Amino acid sequence: MTTPTPLIAGNWKMNGLENDLAEAAAVAAGVGATATRVAICPPATLIERMARALAGSKVDVGGQDCRAQASGAFTGDVSAEMLAQAGARLVILGHSERRAGYGETDALVAAKALAALRGGLEPIVCVGETLEERKAGRTLEVVTGQVRGSLPAELAGRAFSVAYEPVWAIGTGLTPSVAEIEEVHRAIRATLREELGEASNRAPILYGGSVKPSNAAEILHAAEVGGALVGGASLKAQDFLAIIGAL
Ligand code: PGA
Repeated sequence: MTTPTPLIAGNWKMNGLENDLAEAAAVAAGVGATATRVAICPPATLIERMARALAGSKVDVGGQDCRAQASGAFTGDVSAEMLAQAGARLVILGHSERRAGYGETDALVAAKALAALRGGLEPIVCVGETLEERKAGRTLEVVTGQVRGSLPAELAGRAFSVAYEPVWAIGTGLTPSVAEIEEVHRAIRATLREELGEASNRAPILYGGSVKPSNAAEILHAAEVGGALVGGASLKAQDFLAIIGAL
């Protein structure tokens, strides 16, 4: 069976000014020739400078969101084509902070995933349940529903990843148990196979939500965990490198 190449991606969120490029450079220097795929997704303003600084290294640069349209009267938005031209190779889509803060629906995330393919970017599509949904025993129903709704059929055979990020674990220091992570990741894998066929076995399923050096090894070695999407702990090269090294 095809096994996915693991991916460790850092999500800087709305953090990072020019000085912080030094952290990205330290990550690139620290990973050396690792076989793991590593990416950093800085704010859009830093993509071009970071891509230049990391050119030739093992670390790819990604965006944190894109508009579905390629261009037009959409004040403040950025298209997949623009991110790609700035040097991005990947793009995070459907992060819970965008689903909750900007009312992004599964259908919109699916349209953005199509845009990413059109623009030549590899999408990292985020899914995850809220605490209320988990308490109500609805985790698998919610997450597999998001996978079905947010991943267009056109992703079949293409490079992409899914990030399982329980909303209640993001930035809180809380994480699900390894058994809980494995249960959700297995359900995501089964749904991907149903929706996108056997080729989707190549897509890594990342875990995200309070991944840090102290819990990375346990999480990254869980069944069907093909890497991590790391927020806070990706801002400092030392912590991010420790997470990469735990794989
Ligand atoms: P965190 O964020 O690692 O700071 O919890 C993860 C994410 O939101 O992608």
